[in-house]
Order: sequence, then C-alpha cells, then structure tokens
Amino acid sequence: MSHPDDRAQFQAESKAFAIRMGADRALFEKSTDLIVEADKYKYSYLWTWLGVPIIQMPADIVALQEAVWRSKPDIVVETGIARGGSVVFFASLLELLGNGKVIGVDIDIRAANRDTIETHPMAKRIRLIEGSSVAPETLEKVRSEIPAGSRVMVVLDSDHSRDHVLAELRAYAPLVTPGQYLVVADTILGFLNREQTPTARSKVWYKGDEPLAALEAFMTECNDFELDEEMNGKLIMGSSPSGYLRRRG
Ligand SMILES: C[S@@+](CC[C@H](N)C(=O)[O-])C[C@H]1O[C@@H](n2cnc3c(N)ncnc32)[C@H](O)[C@@H]1O
Repeated sequence: MSHPDDRAQFQAESKAFAIRMGADRALFEKSTDLIVEADKYKYSYLWTWLGVPIIQMPADIVALQEAVWRSKPDIVVETGIARGGSVVFFASLLELLGNGKVIGVDIDIRAANRDTIETHPMAKRIRLIEGSSVAPETLEKVRSEIPAGSRVMVVLDSDHSRDHVLAELRAYAPLVTPGQYLVVADTILGFLNREQTPTARSKVWYKGDEPLAALEAFMTECNDFELDEEMNGKLIMGSSPSGYLRRRG
C-alpha cells in the first residue's frame, strides 16, 4: 500500500498544535498544579540519564534533545552540572552526532560527582570547570575551550536568582552563535505564586527573583534572540517554559 509523503504536513501540524497549546493558559495552570504536587516527591530529582542523576523533568530532557538535534552545536556550555546527568546527556547526543564537546561549569564539583562524570563512557566529550559561572577567570577558561568557528549552544542552570541569571545571560549570550539555542532553566519559578514555590531546597527563589525575571530583563536590553514559540508552547510538565531562546541569523 502506498501512502503520500506527509512528513512536512505532520511537522507543520505539530508546530501549529504546539503554538496553540502554548496559548492555553488553563492547561498550563493544570500542568503547573501537577508539577507543584509532584514536587512534594522531588519529581525532578527522580530521573537518570545513562545511569547518572539528571535534575530535570522528562519533558525538559526531550526538549533539550530536540534543541541539540535541530541546531547541531559543536559546543554545549552548561552552567550548573550538579550530579552530572545533564552533561552526560549532552555528551551522549554529541557522541551520536559524532562531533563536539560539553563544557560543564559548577561552583562546587564534589569529588564523587566528578568521579561519576570522569569515569563515564561519555567522559571524553566533557570538560569540567570549577568556579562561579560569572567569575572572570571561569569565563576565561570557558572561552579557551571553544575553538574558533564553533557552533555554540548555552544552557544556564546554576544559581537561579534573578541577578545571577541576568549576569550569566550578559556573559554567556555573546558566546551563542547564530541559529543556536540559549536555554534558561527553571523559568517555571516565574509562573508560581508564593504558596506554590518549592521551599525544600538549599535556596528558595520566589517570583521576581528567579530565571524568568532575568530572561525578561535581558530581552529588553538585547535584540539578538527570539523566543522559540514552538518549543516553549509545548513545554507543559517541564521546568523551563518560555526558557528557550534562539539566536537570530
Ligand atoms: C539545578 S542544579 C543543576 C542541575 C543539572 N543541570 C542537571 O540537569 O542535572 C544547580 C547547580 O548549580 C550550581 N551552582 C550554584 N551557584 C553557582 C554559580 N554561581 N556558578 C556555577 N554553578 C553554580 C550548584 O552547585 C548546583 O550543582
């Protein structure tokens, strides 16, 4: 039986549904309520990637995979690596693509986590840099790991206070090359009211002092990025709705 080639139509319909879904505030609020309920069980801490804890929800992981596949970066810079699952995740995608490396930056790379990362089969595609993501010496080390002409994607997932994320955006956005993604993680915090905000954390970030507030401030001062409507539209049950920016050009 022969079928017409409907790939382009399927893709166009999926995009249209994603954008329409993004406008469905009632659905988004239900999703937010579910995330808040599930956070009582530390939902975003329950997952692993290739055996390593990754502090993301499944929707975030799929969205990041789509971003990497679409833009095929040579370098992924991630601030905030925690137990290593996200750097192993990016490294595994780059391994499949047969090219590239991940530069993981964290203010505190604990010995056990470093051991997990450095002994992982994906370690060859990972460089670790310890230090505050916005310290000049850290930025210098990050830049020195990026070969000239590389396609660079950046994911910001470290200290989620507004001022820190805004400082990161100012420091790391210039590294992102045209067509590549700049992902601001945990923008969900900007959609939660005070009662919904997770407090069982080492730090608590209320609406206004969180990544979405930083992203909004950044967008008023920089016109080089556009929000990826499709990606953001379908990010229910994820921690970074509205967090996907793509460099123009
Ligand atoms: C949410 S966790 C990162 C989760 C990780 N991306 C993942 O998906 O598994 C945040 C991390 O940011 C790090 N961090 C906090 N402040 C930082 C800073 N100023 N610079 C760099 N890293 C920082 C913490 O040590 C922690 O490991």
